[in-house]
Amino acid sequence: MRVFVTGASGWIGSATVDELLAAGHEVTGLARSDASAAALQAKGARVQRGDLDDLASIRSGADAADAVIHLANKHDFANMAATAAAERAAVETIGEALAGSGRPFLLASGVAALTQGRPATEDDPSPFHGPDSPRGGSENLALDFADQGVRSVSLRFAPTVHGAGDHGFIAVIAAVARDKGVSGYPGDGANRWAAVHRSDAARLVALGLEKAPARARLHAVAEEGISVRAIAEAIGQALGLPVTSIDPDDVQGHFGWIGTFFSMDLAATSAATHELLGWTPTGPTLIEDLDAGAYTVAG
Ligand SMILES: NC(=O)c1ccc[n+]([C@@H]2O[C@H](COP(=O)([O-])OP(=O)(O)OC[C@H]3O[C@@H](n4cnc5c(N)ncnc54)[C@H](OP(=O)(O)O)[C@@H]3O)[C@@H](O)[C@H]2O)c1
Repeated sequence: MRVFVTGASGWIGSATVDELLAAGHEVTGLARSDASAAALQAKGARVQRGDLDDLASIRSGADAADAVIHLANKHDFANMAATAAAERAAVETIGEALAGSGRPFLLASGVAALTQGRPATEDDPSPFHGPDSPRGGSENLALDFADQGVRSVSLRFAPTVHGAGDHGFIAVIAAVARDKGVSGYPGDGANRWAAVHRSDAARLVALGLEKAPARARLHAVAEEGISVRAIAEAIGQALGLPVTSIDPDDVQGHFGWIGTFFSMDLAATSAATHELLGWTPTGPTLIEDLDAGAYTVAG
């Protein structure tokens, strides 16, 4: 397939591109810089220059493709509204380009706020609808394009897609620990985070492209939930720092913006994804990665 990938130069995107090329697909990656373009070309991928605010470029990439995988995200946590608006506009543009064609459209999503008091499953719909909701309601917007003949599929990544070189949430939490000289966890540290290794996540994206039906919600989740206390302990061990509870009232002050996420219960299962696609994660666990220095050893 000719696959157009936005976010192709990112953490998940670059591993996904490798998977797709290895499977014999032709990949065109959206690139907004010379560096990202060069990295894609070096792998044997084609390049579509443009960014998330250049909807004409996104439209033209989607028009020319047999499938689209949308992984780009501004990740501007200081301006979540602008990040969500860009996300929604891109999804709308891609959906309209693919309408009536039966072509696959996979988009990145997450597992936050799907349930209360139990792990999220693939059967739990996203409660987010409309432009003012988190991520601009993009998951539902994309899945609804199934009614217009798009094979749309959501990729719900665990809150940590981990591995050496990750600059995501766990890297930010490790940086806070380094900065403060203490590895903290919110409150009693009992809330949990699901996790998946980057290699397993990328393999799931490629499998979903081949086999997932329209409206599938895939959970890129290898571990259902690791307590944030266990995560803080592993970071503390790796950095040689004391580990301590942070009073819930002090969480924002201590952690900054990441404190909101680190306080959330983000457990999720992936039994239905395993059943649907035969996907079995094989990569290291989050704690194994932390113990191996993935977040604490330079380089
Ligand atoms: N990593 C995780 O743990 C995780 C967990 C849950 C959900 N997700 C979601 O999965 C998706 C991929 O995440 P990731 O970790 O791979 O993100 P990432 O490493 O931050 O990569 C983001 C990608 O988006 C591109 N990008 C950023 N701003 C852009 C813009 N204005 N125009 C065009 N492209 C832009 C980046 O391009 P440049 O290379 O040019 O910067 C990069 O290719 C995101 O939607 C993310 O929210 C990730």
